Amino acid sequence: MNNTKKVAIVTGGAMGYKSGGASIGGATSIRLAKDGFCVVVVDLGDMGNKTVEHIKDAGGDAIFIQADVTITEDVERIIKTTKETFHGLNCLVNCVARYGSGMSKNIVDITEEEWNETLNVNLNGYFKMAKYSIPLILESGGGTIINISSLAAFNALPNFSVYSVSKAAINALTRTIAVDFAPDIRANAICPGFVKIANSENNRSPEELEKWYSDISKQYPMRRVCEVSEVASVVSFLAGKDSSYINGQTITVDGGKMAADTHEF
Ligand SMILES: NC(=O)c1ccc[n+]([C@@H]2O[C@H](COP(=O)([O-])OP(=O)(O)OC[C@H]3O[C@@H](n4cnc5c(N)ncnc54)[C@H](O)[C@@H]3O)[C@@H](O)[C@H]2O)c1
Repeated sequence: MNNTKKVAIVTGGAMGYKSGGASIGGATSIRLAKDGFCVVVVDLGDMGNKTVEHIKDAGGDAIFIQADVTITEDVERIIKTTKETFHGLNCLVNCVARYGSGMSKNIVDITEEEWNETLNVNLNGYFKMAKYSIPLILESGGGTIINISSLAAFNALPNFSVYSVSKAAINALTRTIAVDFAPDIRANAICPGFVKIANSENNRSPEELEKWYSDISKQYPMRRVCEVSEVASVVSFLAGKDSSYINGQTITVDGGKMAADTHEF
């Protein structure tokens, strides 16, 4: 229990697949704890306990709340528990995503249920968390909201229709929060390109994984894919005072991919 430290909620904060591998939300939670935040890790999956374990082992302060960010009662419980445990809220990081059926489909093939379900997590989950967090952030003297979006908001991935639409909407949501709640709250979005996470490894062998990453790396001027810590460090910057005049922005973390053209002369 600590009411002098800043408090952050990170949704999608569970560690990843198998034995707690890399995840953007997990790395972000650990980084914010290192920065001195008390962290409320939120996730559907119980690997959020693993994130809290990492934070506590390093001397930080964190709790895990198993919850579904699409359910209003769950979101209200998250905010209530945060207030009761840490007495305030200064930072919200929205970092969930739905990767279920229908993700890899164009708009003809995707069912209406798959479309709605994905928007319900990827967009409504961000909206609800922001809606119910903002009053507590204001009550706590202000803070920051950081939405994890994607390069897919700008460049359509083939047959990833609803994901791209949800991420473009997140960028618009970010701007509307930034305009309506400044100067008390700054809101920014981070748009990563491909990030190496455990949950996308599936059953690939280490050799298959190496080849997969190496093939993807060819599309990136940095000639490698992004590590979760390289997204977490941008969250840390946006959550802190060093970014005090950055508001309503979408920051790409893509190793220069969006800056590059594909023509060769
Ligand atoms: N991995 C990438 O290459 C990449 C690239 C760009 C953007 N992103 C974004 O990063 C964020 C993190 O995703 P990730 O790719 O690291 O995948 P991930 O699977 O590691 O993380 C997503 C987490 O969200 C949780 N979640 C899903 N639905 C939920 C719900 N309704 N309530 C609570 N928790 C829920 C999952 O349990 C999971 O732990 C997402 O917003 C994703 O779109 C990822």
